[in-house]
Parts: sequence; C-alpha cells; structure tokens
Amino acid sequence: MIIAAILTVSCQDAVPLYKQADAPIEKRVEDLLSRMTLEEKILQMNQVTLGTNLNQNNIGGEQVEPVLGSYITYTATDPTEINQMQKRAMEETRLGIPVLFGFDAIHGFRTVYPIPLAQSCSWNPELVEKACSICARESRLSGIPWTFSPMVDIARDGRWGRCAEGYGEDPYTASVFCAASVRGYQGDDISDSTKIAACIKHYIGYGASEAGRDYVPTEISSQTLWDTYMPPYQAGIEAGAATVMSSFNTINGTPASASPYHLTQVLKEQFGWDGMIVSDWDAVKQLVYQGAAADHKESAWRAVNAGLDMDMADLCYFNHLEQLVKEGKVGEKTIDESVRRILRLKFRLGLFENPYPPVTTAEERFNLPGDFEVVEQLAEESSVLLKNNGLLPLGSKPGKIALIGPMVDNYWDLIGSWGGHPLAEDIITIKQAFSDEFGPANVLYAKGCDFEGDDRSGYAEAVAKARQADVVVLCLGEKSSWSGENGIRSTLALPSVQEQLAFELKKTGKPMVLLLNNGRPLELCRLEPLADAILELWQPGIAGGKPAAGILSGRVNPSGKLSITFPYATGQVPIYYNRRRTSRPFMGFYQDITSDPMYEFAYGLSYSTFEYGDIREVCERPLTFEISVTNTSSLDGLETVHWFICDPVSTVTRPYKELKFFEKKLIRAGKTEQFRFEVDPLRDFGYVDESGRRYLEKGKYQILVKDKLFEVEL
Ligand code: BGC
Repeated sequence: MIIAAILTVSCQDAVPLYKQADAPIEKRVEDLLSRMTLEEKILQMNQVTLGTNLNQNNIGGEQVEPVLGSYITYTATDPTEINQMQKRAMEETRLGIPVLFGFDAIHGFRTVYPIPLAQSCSWNPELVEKACSICARESRLSGIPWTFSPMVDIARDGRWGRCAEGYGEDPYTASVFCAASVRGYQGDDISDSTKIAACIKHYIGYGASEAGRDYVPTEISSQTLWDTYMPPYQAGIEAGAATVMSSFNTINGTPASASPYHLTQVLKEQFGWDGMIVSDWDAVKQLVYQGAAADHKESAWRAVNAGLDMDMADLCYFNHLEQLVKEGKVGEKTIDESVRRILRLKFRLGLFENPYPPVTTAEERFNLPGDFEVVEQLAEESSVLLKNNGLLPLGSKPGKIALIGPMVDNYWDLIGSWGGHPLAEDIITIKQAFSDEFGPANVLYAKGCDFEGDDRSGYAEAVAKARQADVVVLCLGEKSSWSGENGIRSTLALPSVQEQLAFELKKTGKPMVLLLNNGRPLELCRLEPLADAILELWQPGIAGGKPAAGILSGRVNPSGKLSITFPYATGQVPIYYNRRRTSRPFMGFYQDITSDPMYEFAYGLSYSTFEYGDIREVCERPLTFEISVTNTSSLDGLETVHWFICDPVSTVTRPYKELKFFEKKLIRAGKTEQFRFEVDPLRDFGYVDESGRRYLEKGKYQILVKDKLFEVEL
C-alpha cells in the first residue's frame, strides 16, 4: 500500500500533469498555471519580433530571451532556425513552455496566391480554403504555427490601402470567405502537423477609415457595427478561429485595443469564445498617441483590464504589468485569464508534444505537386473581365501582340502587399506568360513608362511597337507598396504618366486590351473609353501573367465578379452597393459627374452568355427559391448567382439590396442549371439592433437576382 502510494507520487512528480499528453487540455492549462510565478505568466503575455515587418512600417529586432509567449518571425522559412530558438525555450526555461511563432502569411507563405480582395472576386470559397491549406502546410512545416490572417475588415473606400487585404465591401461575402480561410488554415484540428492557428483581424471597425486614411479614428453607430462590421467576426468565430487581433483605431472614442465592451463583453462573454486576443503591432503603446493613456504603464493597465491577452511588439506588458499587479491596479485573476487563453492555444496546437517541426528541405515543404494548379486556378477565377467589345478572346494566333507597360516585365508588383516568401523564380511575369502562350516571336515588348513620374521618353518606342502589332495589350497598375498597410492614396486614378501612355497608343488605331494589376478599385473613367477590353487581374501572386495570357487567348473563360464597387470617379467614394435608403431617391445626385459607379458590386463578364429565368418559390418550408440559368453560348462557363434581399419597409432603414447567398457553378454550353436559395427568415430577412439582437418583422420582402424580382409576404 505504502509503496504504491510513494510510486504514484514520484510518477506524478516525474511527469507533471501539464506534460501528460492524454490529460484534458483544460486540466493541463490549470496545472501549468498553478505552477507559474507572476513573472512567468507576464512573460507569456508578450510577443516580440525578429526581423523587419514585411510592410516596412515597423522595424523590429528585439532580442529577448525565449521565455516570452510569442515571436513574430519575418525571415524564418527554415525549421532549423525555429528549432534552435524553441530548444532554448523547451530546455533552458524552468517550465519548458514552448514559444508560439507567428507570421503574416496573408495570401500564401511561399506559394503566394492572389490578394484577399481578388480571392473574393472568385466567389469560390472552396478554392480559397484549398489555397489557405497550402499556406498552412508551408508555414507549419517551416516552424510557424500561427498566421495573422484572415483580415475581414469591410472596406468601402478604395483610398484605404488595406482594402487589398480584405474581402471587399459586403459583410456576407466577407463572412463566407473568412470562414473558408479559417477552415483552410486550421482544418479540424490545429495540432495537425500541416495546420496553423488563424487570427481574424483587425477587430473592429478598422475599415471604416475616414477619407481612406490609415490608423485614424472611426465613428460607427452600434446598429451599423452589428449589421456591417461584426458579421465576418461572428462567422470566423463560429468556424473556430483560434485568435483575434485587436485594431489600431478608436471606435466611437474608445481605442479598440482597450475596449472592455468589444474585447471582453462581446468576444469573450456574448460569443462565449475561449480563444486568445493579440494586439496589433504597438497598439498598446499607441494608446498614448490616441490620448487614452498618459504613459505606457497606463496603456498596459487599460489594455489588460479591457481583456487584451497578448501585447504585440511594444513590451508595455513586459515592462509594467508586474508593478501594476503589485499596486493592485490589475488583478491576478485578470492575468490568469489571459495566460489561460495563451496556454490553451499552445496546448491546442500540440506545441508541448511537438515543439519542433521536422527538419525538411525546401523541396519537401514548398511548391508540392498540385499546389501551383490551385493558386493558378484561384488567380484565373479572381480575374474580372470588366469590358469586352468583342475583341476577346484573341484566340491562340492573334498575330503580333505589342505588350506594353510598366507591369509587363515585373515580378514583385504581381505579388501585392504582405507577399510572404516567394522567390523571383517562382513568379511568372506577364512577358514570360505571353511568350509561352502566343510564342516569343509574336510578342513585341516596350515598357513605355514607369509607374509614376514624368519620364515620357519611352512613349515613342511603345507607339512604334504598337504600330508593328495587330493588337496592343497595355499592362498598367500599381506597385505592391501602393496598397496594404499605410498604402493610402488621395485618388484611385493611375498616375497621369500611365494614362497618357494609353492615349498615345490609342492614336495608333490598333485594338487595345487593358490589363490591370492593382490592390484597390481604380478610377477608370478616362481609360475605359480607350480600351476595347479591360481585364482586372489584381495582384495575382506567383501565377502572375499566366491567367491573363490564358484568358486573352481563350484557353480560360473568365468568371470573376467584383466584390468591391469601382467608382466612376474618386469623388464618389465611399461608394458601395448596400447603402441605406435615402429620403429623396430621385434627388441628391452629383452635379458634375454621374452618381452611378463605373462597375458595380457583383459585376463581371464571361465569354459565355447566360440567360436567367424567373425566380420561383419551390418550397414553403423551408422557404426555398430557384432560378434557372442557361448557357446560351457554345462555350462552357462558370457562373455565380448572387441572391439579394430587400426589405422595403422596416423599423430600421435598410439598404436597397443585401446579399444573402451566392453559388458558383459550371454550366456546360447550351445547358441549363438550377440555382437554389434556401431562406432562413430570421437570418436572411431579419435585422439587428444596437446590441446585435436579431428581429424579424411581418411584411413584404423581395428576392432579387440580377433584374429578376420575387415578392414574398411573411
Ligand atoms: C499590421 C497587422 C500585422 C502586424 C504584424 C501590423 O502592422 O497592422 O496587420 O498582422 O503588423 O506584422
């Protein structure tokens, strides 16, 4: 008896509960927490950075011992680097708590795919999920089990460069793509050796930036917050997102990173979410700039008491939390609750059992068979054909093509902001792709001009090449650095040096296709009349020019549709399809320009032609509608049907149209497909109040698909 008892005790001593892989995670968390000193707990609540933040806005490089909770590693792509640091955390610290490494793998780690704004134009969440799972595998095998993605900020002003990082202007669209990417990153179990923890960001309201400026205050009514900005977060949390990042902005006067309402009441209590909240970079320290704290100590006090678990980069928690606890300004319970969430994440990721990713070669981690095909297909389906007067497709033998513009022989600007770790040799330039598609002898190249500046000396050569050609393909756009964080522009127009190049080429009388690479909607009112066809490629990632070449030749039938409105002119922004009803719909128009956008939400052309039938109610319970779509062309084509609703009379003034469902299907030439929308009345017809409660009112509702309308009465 006595011997057995001693044995049990010594066995338990040898393997503490938190190290027992088969014990329940919550028990392991509590056991570990009970063994930690206050100092050890606070160390877990900090994240520092190694290397330079990819967007160049933040320079890191703190060298703090590996007892900290987390590191951002901007340079590591090799597990051996990570393993060296992890070994120190596991073997040289008292409790052996693994470090959590994180990185902004926003649209790919090495196998980079289109920017998120482009991804949503594919209307293919399954494909986005696949791309995110490639990213997860590459990241985890490189030793980084956490990405700061997806960004789900609703963006309605293209001047805000971060619109490139999200899924556009519509809450439903952002919700669907948020859930898809969370599934792709996390799979069913984040302890899997090829999965990573997602981080939905930037919570909350960051996209409601005034005049497109970054980091500025936002003013969002409570009803709009719940109606427009919260749904993607709810969707991400329902999909199991492991972490959330708090944002830089103040919202209605309170910094989002120090808001007890948003961080604790909504996320942790109302949603009952048990994940971990990390601040955005320096967001705690920046409370001082925001006038919400007198010094960094007060910043730490406000943020931690609001429910912010981990402090990114600025070390305010590291420097001040212990003192704040000693002074009684921060309770140990508050610290414990944050540390509990951090440890829970580390246990869920399986880091205690498998802190070291296997040592593999780059060939074993990156660009595995099948990966390129996924990112290529995503780039093809993200491209949006904005105009076609019949010139496209050119066919495989269109004669000589004059390929002109600053984008043609360019690698990095095809990638976009937060570009991950692609190698130049991974990226197919437009020049390369056209030469592969049409044969090198058929492609004449001239740069014409740079992205900006006044140098027009290249125009003459461009015009000469155009004259020798049968068709001009003009490749204009934005540098990667023009969008993304702090990528703010006062106008959505391309610089005049690029626009004028188009005017010069137009004078040759040659048919002209405009290819656009950019990270925001553009002002195209001057360029549009010059082009016979316009293809929006966004920033497509490593597939680069290949999708464009395929679409122009006709090898690929375009199917992308816009997830963000293209204004006619910058003066119209913010402009978005789901604006609320006005008091005088017949008035209130611009005097100098049209009030209509250039291209509206959900717009995009195909080489196939589709004919829509009428909307039919096919079932009352559940309330289900159907519409048939016939491909009347001789080309197979993918078509996305967008189902909108309208509530013409409501207690809350609602938008003219609200997207509630979409579906993309292949419709074979000459065939008809049925598209279905099964309505959940509260979810799809209801509205939210200022606390997020959903109501359904009796009355008439409209179902809208393109120009078709069906009215139902509840
Ligand atoms: C950005 C975040 C990013 C973080 C870490 C910040 O500057 O706003 O989106 O995840 O840096 O790199």
